[in-house]
Amino acid sequence: MEKKNIDWENIGFGYIKTEKRYVSNYKEGAWDGGVLTEDDTVVISECAGVLQYAQTIFEGLKAYTTDDGHIVTFRPDLNAERMEASATRLEMPAFPKERFLDAIDQVVRANEAYVPPYGSGATLYIRPYMFGSNPVIGVKPADEYQFRVFTTPVGPYFKGGAKPLTIRVSDFDRAAPHGTGHIKAGLNYAMSLHAIVSAHKEGFDENMYLDPGTRTKVEETGGANFLFVTKDGKVVTPKSDSILPSITRRSLMHVAKEYLGLEVEEREVLFEEVKDMAECGLCGTAAVISPVGKIVDHGKEICIPSGMEQMGPITQKLYDTLTGIQMGRIEAPEGWIRVIK
Ligand code: PLP
Ligand code: COI
Repeated sequence: MEKKNIDWENIGFGYIKTEKRYVSNYKEGAWDGGVLTEDDTVVISECAGVLQYAQTIFEGLKAYTTDDGHIVTFRPDLNAERMEASATRLEMPAFPKERFLDAIDQVVRANEAYVPPYGSGATLYIRPYMFGSNPVIGVKPADEYQFRVFTTPVGPYFKGGAKPLTIRVSDFDRAAPHGTGHIKAGLNYAMSLHAIVSAHKEGFDENMYLDPGTRTKVEETGGANFLFVTKDGKVVTPKSDSILPSITRRSLMHVAKEYLGLEVEEREVLFEEVKDMAECGLCGTAAVISPVGKIVDHGKEICIPSGMEQMGPITQKLYDTLTGIQMGRIEAPEGWIRVIK
């Protein structure tokens, strides 16, 4: 299979149209068989539920080329399960797990020419999503839905790759107590747009959101969970009902404990504690682990001891082990890698 002529080493996290995408429609209580199509446009009613009341959810995962030339995905079953949880919360029908996995396999295979080569630093980002497609004017769930999966080759989410980030404590919330912060609904990201635009204008890479109830505890950023390393080498991650249960974070906690023999804690993390942390990273499919060097709270700077030049040593080990598992250099736990080709 001849790869596309793309400058893999230098692409960023943007949309590059690929050949095929998967589409299935839900009508009269059932999903149709689903097809691969070259049509990258969506035609829906002007009154579609997604356009009026933001009834839309999505997922994000990646396909990797391994060192022995296979194409694999990483724990896609967890994306299927999380998408089902998102659907339930927004009164949408679930797309069955086995079909979700098969749809991803099909789209990746159909776009094999766009799967970045091993060692290029790029990956194929996969975006499954679903939205209410029929007219809805009173506030209620749609009756018809479309499920789609497209792919796009991507490089690092943050410009500068592994350079430590500077983030700020946000004055805006992205989630509400008992709201939708724990699911992957488009509305959570709409909520974060003003905050990210103003953060960028002020020279910050991302926002740290605190818990919306008390504003004393660390939650997450607009697109990634936090991992901290304490000065005595413990890996700590915030526990909260209003953050997205990151698959990367759950995997890294396993890696920290089982591969690196570190102590791990998932617990509430007070913002007060952050100044005493040795390392800080943002973890997610897009972010992988992006180190944080500085956190600014209304002008007050917290400089993380690992500094602004490179990742801290434990963050680096976590990064190397996780990407080693994803690219086939390190043996994966049972069931983590799905071989597509
Ligand atoms: N938190 C938010 C708000 C996200 O959008 C993402 C990205 O999916 C994550 C965390 C990381 O989740 P995952 O590791 O499953 O990609
Ligand atoms: C992902 O990591 O897959 C996400 O969906 C995060 C998004 C901000 C790009």
